[in-house]
Amino acid sequence: MRVSRRALMLGAGAAVVVGATIPPRRSFANSIIKEYRLTTNSATVNLTGDGYPATVVWAYDGTVPGPELRVRQGEPVRITVRNKLDEDTTVHWHGIRLPNAMDGVPGLTQKPIRPGESFVYEFTPPDAGTFWYHPHADTLQQLGRGLVGALIVEELEPVAVDRDLLWFIEDWRLDGEGRIAGGFGNHMEAGMSGRIGNTVTINGRVANSVPVKAGERVRLRLVNAALARIIGLRFEGHKPVVVAHDGQPCDPHSPEGGRVVLGPAMRTDIIIDMIGKPGQSYRVIDDFYQDLAYKLINVDYDGNPAREPRSDAPPKLSANPLPEPDLDAAERHEIALQGGMMGGMGMMRGGGMMRRGGMMGGMIGGGATWAMNGMSMTGDGQPNMAPLFTIKRGKSCVLELRNETAWWHPMHLHGHSFRVISRNGKPNAGREWRDTVLIPPRERAELAFVADHPGDWMFHCHVTDHQEAGMMALIRIA
Ligand code: C2O
Ligand code: CU
Repeated sequence: MRVSRRALMLGAGAAVVVGATIPPRRSFANSIIKEYRLTTNSATVNLTGDGYPATVVWAYDGTVPGPELRVRQGEPVRITVRNKLDEDTTVHWHGIRLPNAMDGVPGLTQKPIRPGESFVYEFTPPDAGTFWYHPHADTLQQLGRGLVGALIVEELEPVAVDRDLLWFIEDWRLDGEGRIAGGFGNHMEAGMSGRIGNTVTINGRVANSVPVKAGERVRLRLVNAALARIIGLRFEGHKPVVVAHDGQPCDPHSPEGGRVVLGPAMRTDIIIDMIGKPGQSYRVIDDFYQDLAYKLINVDYDGNPAREPRSDAPPKLSANPLPEPDLDAAERHEIALQGGMMGGMGMMRGGGMMRRGGMMGGMIGGGATWAMNGMSMTGDGQPNMAPLFTIKRGKSCVLELRNETAWWHPMHLHGHSFRVISRNGKPNAGREWRDTVLIPPRERAELAFVADHPGDWMFHCHVTDHQEAGMMALIRIA
């Protein structure tokens, strides 16, 4: 599988400007429930720029990404989802700590929303930060055809930046006519890197440039809403400071190796001081897959003289009210990630791997390609399947994840955020909170959290092919 350079360049000639300024909103009536309506349907959009063919997608309210939902921390929101697709759907509010019944897993936390029907989601987000929403039914296809959107929970006190910018990144596999290529769930791909596309969009368009002013301080919210593509962003000429992972504030720090890496479903908030020269242009490069580096977008400075540069350090976001796990009293559980094709790391090259490969071991049956501790939940999940384990409500819990496969897995726990306390047996100094942790091939990570929300919660890989082919399980909090 190769990413076609031509496809990535499709929109290069079009001057597409992304990232609108979003002024902080103030709400005066605390008791009023914020209401949104979302309708799923097919729609025709232009992903690749003027003069290039349009694409038929599945979308919330006719746009990709769907409407940006903005709510305030601690204020209730009600979202009525109407389904005009020809198949069942649900919506999962990825990363929000909410009651199990609002989690959007069909057959497990709710009945699927049938064609023509609606479902009302209601919750009060406890944490401010960058979150997103997507279906949890026929996920590979529904997410891959465009059903995704950002959910921004605003801080009670606005953060001291000049602009708040969202880059909602999606990855599409388009054919020469701009159509979404078929073949979702291809068995070969499911056993390897998953469905990686050939066209990367920011806020629904192949992006050319983002305009900035010298001297301004920007909060940039990065969301990787791809099915399978991992991205690794370098900001030429700039020094991004990471201030939050998966919506949860962290100690401000430079990204490791100067590169912001996001697996599918992951978010990173960064603060960038625009220290470039007026009139100049700087590239943002995605070089996660070494030989497939490409320019994602240009940062274009206008010609005005630089404003007084910021001398203060980027602001630290105030912490969210997360319960602190008690490591001494914690229950420990090991989870082995298993299966997939064997062979080299990263993306397949040539086809050599297939000759050596085949499935790993014989322990995975029933059409599943992946497993966790030998168990495979496939498709949208089997609600009658036994949980991996049960935790008592209120207990602290440490999960030790062991990636025994040759592939990367962004592992996501529903309804909770966890601290990443170690990597490969070494303490993780930052101990950052996340809801999705990216585990490289053959590596290990330890997560700690308080099991404070009762219910059956999904724990799965967010490479959607892997999830649907068995790398999914339930954790019960009772
Ligand atoms: Cu973002 Cu189970 O999902
Ligand atoms: Cu995976």
